[in-house]
Amino acid sequence: MATVNLKGRDFLKLLDFTPEEITYLLDLAADFKEKKKNGQLHNVFPTKNVALIFEKTSTRTRCSFEVAAHDLGMGSTYLEPTGSQIGHKESIADTARVLASMYDGIEYRGFEQEIVEELAKYSKVPVWNGLTNEFHPTQMLADLLTIREHFGYLKGIHLCYFGDARYNTGNSLMVACAKMGMHFTAISNEKYFPSEELIEKCKEIAQKTGAEISFSTDVNAAKGCDVVATDIWVSMGEPDDVWEERIKDLEPYRVTKNVMDNAGEKAIFMHCLPSFHDLNTKVGKKIKEKYGIDEMEVTDEVFESDKSLVFEEAENRMHTIKAVMYATLN
Ligand code: CP
Ligand code: NVA
Repeated sequence: MATVNLKGRDFLKLLDFTPEEITYLLDLAADFKEKKKNGQLHNVFPTKNVALIFEKTSTRTRCSFEVAAHDLGMGSTYLEPTGSQIGHKESIADTARVLASMYDGIEYRGFEQEIVEELAKYSKVPVWNGLTNEFHPTQMLADLLTIREHFGYLKGIHLCYFGDARYNTGNSLMVACAKMGMHFTAISNEKYFPSEELIEKCKEIAQKTGAEISFSTDVNAAKGCDVVATDIWVSMGEPDDVWEERIKDLEPYRVTKNVMDNAGEKAIFMHCLPSFHDLNTKVGKKIKEKYGIDEMEVTDEVFESDKSLVFEEAENRMHTIKAVMYATLN
């Protein structure tokens, strides 16, 4: 494993990390995964505690932080969306200083990226971004690990992202691909491409890493690709009244069996989850009643197929989050 020292660093977005540092975190996660599978104890931080702030709901990220903290021997405190003073009665700067005096690390999931950046500015302990509107960096480590496990390498892998590419997951996948020398193609209605500013940054990175960044409104642009990825069409915190326009704009970019058949023979399907691929959710049922559609960003057929690695990807959230905490606290 490369000699990289991340002690004391925040983990706010992948843009802040070099390809070597990202590879180091992936190697560390793979190592922890093996230890976990072999039942080898790695409770190396028995005197440490972490605070987990969630201003939006979560299943995977919360559970990953809690299980990973426990496996590393640490205590954790979950601060639920309505369970703290943050933002309502207490500023981010004051919260950061209070929590940093009691905890060794702070996870934050919430709204604007500037909030987590502000938290980190005032915290003397590492801050980890558990998702903001703009970025979802811990998800990226899990996605990269899953791709590397499947193909054995990352450089040159062609990932096509369908749907809402201008939010946390789409933005972050473009950055992840740029950093790791991969080929990223956003395939969507052009209203949903990432911002020009972020595209420019990624193209600059790509020049150094050999990555390619491209955009298309044609679903056939995914021909022969290695990874097909998507995310929900309306993200947490967005108003309900965007659904109608989103469905109209993004229905042509649903991941279907045709999309997967057009991709490479070994292509895999990825999704950060949760996903609306059937009617077994309250939101899924509500959208069916209102707009008459049974599936949204991906068909149930693709989601449940052998090509779908979504549950491996979800498991890798825990191993990679453990690597982030370990590397920044050790
Ligand atoms: N993928 C992901 O972040 O899932 P949760 O919202 O359940 O944490
Ligand atoms: N784009 C989604 C990701 C969920 C993990 C959201 O922000 O709700």
